[in-house]
Amino acid sequence: MNRDANHFRNQDSHSNASMPIHHPSSAYPSLRNITIEDFQLPSTGLTEEQRAKALAQLHEYLSIQKANFLGYQVNQQLDYEDDLKPYLNYHVNNVGDPFIDGNLTIHSKWMERAVLDYYARVWNARLPHNPADGESYWGYVVSMGCTEGNLYGLWNARDYLAGKLLLEEHTAEEEARVASFGGHPRSLLRRLIYKQALPLDGKPHAYTPVVFYSEDTHYSIIKAGIVLGLHTFYQIGQHYYPNENPLAPGQPWSKEVPSTQGSTGPGSIDIPSLVKLVEFFAAKGYPILICFNYGTTFKGAYDDVEAAGKALMPIFQRYGLHERKVYYDPSDPNQFDLRTGYWFHVDGALGAAYMPFVEMAYNAEKIAQRGPNFDFRLPFVHSIAMSGHKWIGAPCPCGIYMTKTKYQLRPPDNPEYIGSPDTTFAGSRNGLSAMILWDYLAKTSYEGEMEKALYTEKMAEYAVQKLKKLEQHLGESLWVERTPLSLTIRFKQANPNIIFKYSLSSETLFVNGQKRAYNHIFIMAHVTTQLIDQLITDLRQPGAFPSQPTVAKPPEIAPTRHPKHLAHFPHLGRGFH
Ligand SMILES: Cc1ncc(COP(=O)(O)O)c(C=O)c1O
Repeated sequence: MNRDANHFRNQDSHSNASMPIHHPSSAYPSLRNITIEDFQLPSTGLTEEQRAKALAQLHEYLSIQKANFLGYQVNQQLDYEDDLKPYLNYHVNNVGDPFIDGNLTIHSKWMERAVLDYYARVWNARLPHNPADGESYWGYVVSMGCTEGNLYGLWNARDYLAGKLLLEEHTAEEEARVASFGGHPRSLLRRLIYKQALPLDGKPHAYTPVVFYSEDTHYSIIKAGIVLGLHTFYQIGQHYYPNENPLAPGQPWSKEVPSTQGSTGPGSIDIPSLVKLVEFFAAKGYPILICFNYGTTFKGAYDDVEAAGKALMPIFQRYGLHERKVYYDPSDPNQFDLRTGYWFHVDGALGAAYMPFVEMAYNAEKIAQRGPNFDFRLPFVHSIAMSGHKWIGAPCPCGIYMTKTKYQLRPPDNPEYIGSPDTTFAGSRNGLSAMILWDYLAKTSYEGEMEKALYTEKMAEYAVQKLKKLEQHLGESLWVERTPLSLTIRFKQANPNIIFKYSLSSETLFVNGQKRAYNHIFIMAHVTTQLIDQLITDLRQPGAFPSQPTVAKPPEIAPTRHPKHLAHFPHLGRGFH
């Protein structure tokens, strides 16, 4: 054991806890302006002085990184301290369904419902939520970000399309009564049970959903598919129909639905390709699960959900997927559910919070363009997910999942224990998130949101102009691009110092066979002309753009160094770099 680890042993001499084999600070990444050793936690805790020293470093580090933050779609303009600071010393838990208060009374569900109602209005859903009205919305404030909304949306979709049925277990009470004679008290669980509808004769694929998403889709969708054991059109196509790729007969299937104009274009889903792919599977009787993007992660593109729905609806009608009967009991033709044989999920992590106000500004003739429709005005939209910390801004990840009551997934438990049905993904849910979102919405107006949208649009255009001027100054192309109405601008990758200073996200694209490393910036409400000018000054310095080796074609797929990490979905490795 080295000297540093002995330092731990001396402090922890009376405890039975394990010792590190060497000091963790040498094992973990180092960070500019942070002394990792100052943050290690010995069994005695830190003295007041040590704690103050560490916290001062934390404050300085985060303040500097926040002041220069440009790389991700996360708003840093936050104003919650005055209203919400006291609640850091409360445990506020919205466990269970947001529309049933339950027995854990330290919650903020009435604020959560106000937030959900707000977005139900903005997304043109029917409100208030009413369990007896299938057309009314249902949703909840998620404890993670949009990732949880996507996961829940795909879960909901999988079980709906796979013909899962939820039934009351009538025998539960009698079973508990009989069992209690054995001398052990038995709790009475009011169980809902899953039942799987049986495929009908001649329709072997009727309950095997096929997932479609574009090549610009966020990795959370891919991860959700893996977790849920779903299969994409690529997997099913490549396995069962290897020579029938409708986009390129005889060629291998593409892993994802192509996006428009390839890797440098706007990045929205290519509708003609989607239509061809969907028709292939619809004709064979597979139910269809499509994940649309409303604001893609890297290019900020908006899928035209309305145009896609209009192009696909005749196909669904042709193959009986617009509405189908899901039988509870094949021997009883009167017992069935009427369901769509398709599900449209909209991943609106950033765009679903922002675009409704661009549309309002457009209607007020304050802006010349608006994004395509994506919300519950479209009868074919089943679910929407959104992050709260992106457009709105929040000190912790949060977000919203919303669907219609008639599509609602009810997990098979209705626990007496918490007194509120377990309809959400997490058990304990972060009640602070609902308070944060409520506080933001209580302090703004539609007018204020419109102004914010116009400000970010103006600032994005400013950044594009500045980067183009820089190109002229340097006499070289910086590959500057902005997808219309997106808040992100991409350009040639800068050096690691600049990447760290502005927290820039990176992505590698192939353009005409050339490998290109990009960065992008996101223009959120905290971004000012001064911050953009400061970035341009840094990008103007010699060495700001390291030269990039050109590679004629992508390397062949090779085994990873860690082959035990298996992914069933085609995982293209995009993420937060
Ligand atoms: C399109 C899209 N979907 C989902 C997510 C995941 O959101 P979160 O980080 O809030 O979980 C992101 C995050 O950037 C995103 O851009």
